[in-house]
Amino acid sequence: MGLSPSETARTATPGPQHVDGRGEAVLMMTDVYRGLEGVERGEIKYLRVLEQVARPWAARRFWPEDEGLGQHAIISMHAHIFVKIHHGVVPVAEDGSACFTVPAEKNLFFEALDQDFMEVQRMRSFLNLRPGETRSCIGCHEERRLAPPSGTPMALAHPPSRLGPQPGETVPRPIYYPTDVQPVLDKHCVACHNPKKPEGELDLSGEPTTFFNRSYEQVMSKKLVAYIQEFHGPQPRAQKTNVVPLPPRSLGSHASGLIAVVREGHYDAKLSAEEMARLVTWADANAPYYGSYFGRRNLKYKDHPDFRPTPTLESASGTPPPDAQPYAQSPRPPAPLVPRLRLGTP
Ligand code: HEC
Ligand code: HEC
Repeated sequence: MGLSPSETARTATPGPQHVDGRGEAVLMMTDVYRGLEGVERGEIKYLRVLEQVARPWAARRFWPEDEGLGQHAIISMHAHIFVKIHHGVVPVAEDGSACFTVPAEKNLFFEALDQDFMEVQRMRSFLNLRPGETRSCIGCHEERRLAPPSGTPMALAHPPSRLGPQPGETVPRPIYYPTDVQPVLDKHCVACHNPKKPEGELDLSGEPTTFFNRSYEQVMSKKLVAYIQEFHGPQPRAQKTNVVPLPPRSLGSHASGLIAVVREGHYDAKLSAEEMARLVTWADANAPYYGSYFGRRNLKYKDHPDFRPTPTLESASGTPPPDAQPYAQSPRPPAPLVPRLRLGTP
């Protein structure tokens, strides 16, 4: 009796055939729920892919009174010192799997999102891939020595997904508070939260302050957004929060008072899906203000052509804008990087 091959499920094995040859890689996640304690199966609908941009040397410029908060080229108020770029979202299948292409040679991290594009868990580390590389993981996160679940992940029934936009956006795009968040507040909130009438002692106006604007300073200092404190702060806990594992919904939109107020229904403020997506993406990106390392920050330079330029994808990615003041013209010379060694002294 001859042997006949058994029917096997048709799967699209992810691999180099799915990348564009211009710097993409493929990721395969088998079950996002591994490591997401307290999250019901079915709750995770998307993965959001963000990039933490490395600080380019070209950003190292000093203008008098233009640095502060322990950050050089200020990015946020006591949150991250890094620029974030949103690369898009991909669907997560019912079984928790996802297979997708991502740009290679970038510092990428992931956020597991619910149906409202709100972060349920965040990867606070990042991953780099080489062009054409294929890599897999189990979830969010598995034990290091755990084998992937058996069976064929649903995400392998079709070729890898491509990163796509959330409602009302184009990706990739830098996260930038003045254009992401302030217009929403101007439209829905400042009528009651302005300098003359700060209801609830909250001013959400876009009036510029020394390094940011009024609403950003208020939201950050009143802790109306849940963010990782980095590099700054006398509390030892501020540093610990960035290393100890955190349960789902500890950071970002689900833990932020600002978002909760809006979602609960607050007077007649009704935000569209697009506006909500802007707000939660910013909160989940760890609440940055600036979207590039370039441009002068201090309000005293408000008449300077290089004052707080709106970031482009290029400037956000670390390419200096054509009119950026180069480092060589900086009024303050750099300190020597390595202190001179005194050889031969006992
Ligand atoms: C949204 C949840 C989530 C998803 C999805 C996720 N990770 Fe992570 N990842 C984490 C968390 C949490 C950490 C630990 C660092 C931290 O506390 O944030 C981590 C850390 C890592 C690290 C660093 C490990 C170390 O020891 O420093 C690597 C590498 C990594 N993840 C790879 C991946 C890969 C590959 C995938 C699948 C494409 C993936 N991750 C998907 C949440 C996630
Ligand atoms: C019609 C007027 C009105 C509008 C519009 C309005 N608010 Fe308020 N808000 C108030 C009042 C009054 C209070 C104080 C009493 C209360 O909490 O209800 C308040 C309180 C708050 C608080 C609590 C303050 C704190 O420190 O805990 C937050 C947060 C807030 N508003 C956010 C917003 C946001 C965000 C918007 C826009 C999406 C907005 N509000 C739109 C009237 C308004």
